[in-house]
Amino acid sequence: MKLWDKGYEPDKMIEEFTVGQDRELDLRLARYDVEGSMAHIRMLESIGLLTKSELEVLLKGLGEIRAEIERGEFTIEPGVEDVHSQVEFILTERYGDIGKKIHSGRSRNDQVLVDLKLFMRDELRKIAHATENLFERLQSLSEEYQDVLMPGYTHLQVAMPSSFGLWFGAYAEALADDMQMLLAAYRIADQNPLGSAAGYGSSFPLNRTMTTELLGFSDLHYNVVAAQMSRGKTERAAAMAIASIASTLARFAMDVCMWMCQNFGFVSFPDEFTTGSSIMPHKKNPDVFEIMRGKCNRLQSVPNEIALLTANLPLGYNRDLQLLKDITFPATTEIVKCLEMWDFMLQHIRINRDIINDPKYDYLFTVEDVNRLALSGMPYRDAYKTIGMQVQHGEYKPTREVHHTHEGSTGNLCNDRIAAKMHRIIEQFK
Ligand code: ARG
Repeated sequence: MKLWDKGYEPDKMIEEFTVGQDRELDLRLARYDVEGSMAHIRMLESIGLLTKSELEVLLKGLGEIRAEIERGEFTIEPGVEDVHSQVEFILTERYGDIGKKIHSGRSRNDQVLVDLKLFMRDELRKIAHATENLFERLQSLSEEYQDVLMPGYTHLQVAMPSSFGLWFGAYAEALADDMQMLLAAYRIADQNPLGSAAGYGSSFPLNRTMTTELLGFSDLHYNVVAAQMSRGKTERAAAMAIASIASTLARFAMDVCMWMCQNFGFVSFPDEFTTGSSIMPHKKNPDVFEIMRGKCNRLQSVPNEIALLTANLPLGYNRDLQLLKDITFPATTEIVKCLEMWDFMLQHIRINRDIINDPKYDYLFTVEDVNRLALSGMPYRDAYKTIGMQVQHGEYKPTREVHHTHEGSTGNLCNDRIAAKMHRIIEQFK
């Protein structure tokens, strides 16, 4: 059963190959497809292409389908290509020819576009919400452990005193930057492509402003070709934001893997949060963070996959675009799972509170001691030399006093300002 039926059935192999994963993936678009159609037919009635009573019947029908989707009863039947066809077939089956009227002034090209914009808007909101939760968790850990020092490294060599407060707080602020990317992606998704039809508009006097308002979009993609071109761009912007969060999470996972290692021993987790070895009876492995690192590193390839899939496509709709769903749908789910998993794990993290007294970290304090001499009047270069020679001759004795006061340092984390920054961004996701 095809919307484009002209008396012949496509070859089974062709059908399977071209439909691909659509029957499954399109289920995630179903409720948006119905919403889009509801807005479209309201508009059709307003321009005289449907009567009031036809509109009522169709709205009732679409309402029933929406309820079936919510109850998980909606499926795309074998032989039906996609969600757009399925919805139209159900309406026609139940209400007769009137069901065929919903497609006036439309094309599946703009149906899928509007579905994807609505879907992506919701997914980006979910990602923003999960990011915000993790952000709050990190900020509260940062406050809780603000006085607990840990070694800071450069070149992976012991460098200067850091703190758990600084560490947790750093990932919180990094997520605020990622949230900016998410907001940019959200704004790109929040524009109405409906009315672009096959990609070149329609000779029906469509009221696109009306559907924009009905669907709660902030603006339109005005130019119908630009609207069609936004397929791929919307996904790419979202993927870049997801990749940005993923890069933060992957790096954080690496820290934890390393710091759970016995050579560091900075953090640990209760046994139930680790995994064992089949041969080494003592092992308590950080598999969660390794899987996290792997998943988040993979997610960073998604923008690249999209770039390759869409490179040099001719202007207008091309069926290649269908495969964007295969790439982006799992990615939006995966990043939320990763964010939630982080939040879950951090509720159980244990911090080693006295790492810093280990003599192997003595040299962390050289810079503090140089600065102390300089503050008491010695020229900076002489102070550096004095401490440097003590180290060189094995005579350096750290004072272990850390007194950082400037904004964003161990003694002045400015978490409240970082929170304000984050909240200003979040407010803009309406
Ligand atoms: N499944 C298709 C997609 O995702 C829907 C649009 C089909 N349009 C077409 N001209 N064949 O792109």
